[in-house]
Amino acid sequence: MTLLDTSKLPRHIAIIPDGNGRWAEVQGLPRNEGHRRGSDNVREIVSRCHELGIKMLTIYAFSQENWNRPRDEVDAIMELLAHYLQHETDELVEKGVRIDSIGRLDELSPAIQKDITELMRRTEGNDSMRVTFALSYSGRAELVDAVRAIVREAESGQLDPEAIDEKTLRLHLYRPDLPDPDLLIRTGDEHRISNFLLWQFAYTELYVTEALWPDFGPEQLDLAIAEYQRRERRFGLTSAQVRGSE
Ligand code: IPE
Ligand code: IPE
Ligand code: MG
Repeated sequence: MTLLDTSKLPRHIAIIPDGNGRWAEVQGLPRNEGHRRGSDNVREIVSRCHELGIKMLTIYAFSQENWNRPRDEVDAIMELLAHYLQHETDELVEKGVRIDSIGRLDELSPAIQKDITELMRRTEGNDSMRVTFALSYSGRAELVDAVRAIVREAESGQLDPEAIDEKTLRLHLYRPDLPDPDLLIRTGDEHRISNFLLWQFAYTELYVTEALWPDFGPEQLDLAIAEYQRRERRFGLTSAQVRGSE
């Protein structure tokens, strides 16, 4: 395994697990088989993150745009999601993991809404790690939802429009207490954000790998973290300032 500096681990990792369809195509299998293998891999990677002591992990499981895929593919992904929530989460609950979700949950089936809500409630007090699933999620929709809530408060006189600042906006995101990701990992070699955490990625380190999601194993995760540990996060400052020599 790659040697990691445990004192410099990213506190929060976000993942865009892309490439399930291409993985299946390469193997001569139907796309849905790629999603099944992808779902198995979520278990592997969550487990490795837990083992490493990563405190927060946010996984883009299904975007709002993904609803526009062929009906049978959407149905297959939803079945896998339902299966994952019912059968793959016990181990996480036992390990003291808090399971959370962001997105427009009301667009999911009532059964999935019930399962995820129940898991969130059951694990609310857990603190060994926080795993957040982005479901029917869109970064732009999250900002629209935040603006709506802010305007409602302003109209009712609870909020002075002149006092609205970045903090106000953050406080109206789906999970104001979830810190911005330190590292985004995208598999499948696409160099884009695809409407994931638009506000939160302002200073996130981006890592793109050619590995397709079902092939992205614990060793590749370690490589991504090792690469993150070599980066210098400057947040607009000079390198000398960051190193404390100025
Ligand atoms: C990501 O894999 C999984 C979801 C979007 C749910 P894709 O299905 O996008 O795989 P590719 O990009 O077509 O290979
Ligand atoms: C992003 O992957 C969404 C998820 C992994 C859930 P997509 O495959 O949907 O992204 P695009 O369409 O290539 O940008
Ligand atoms: Mg894709």
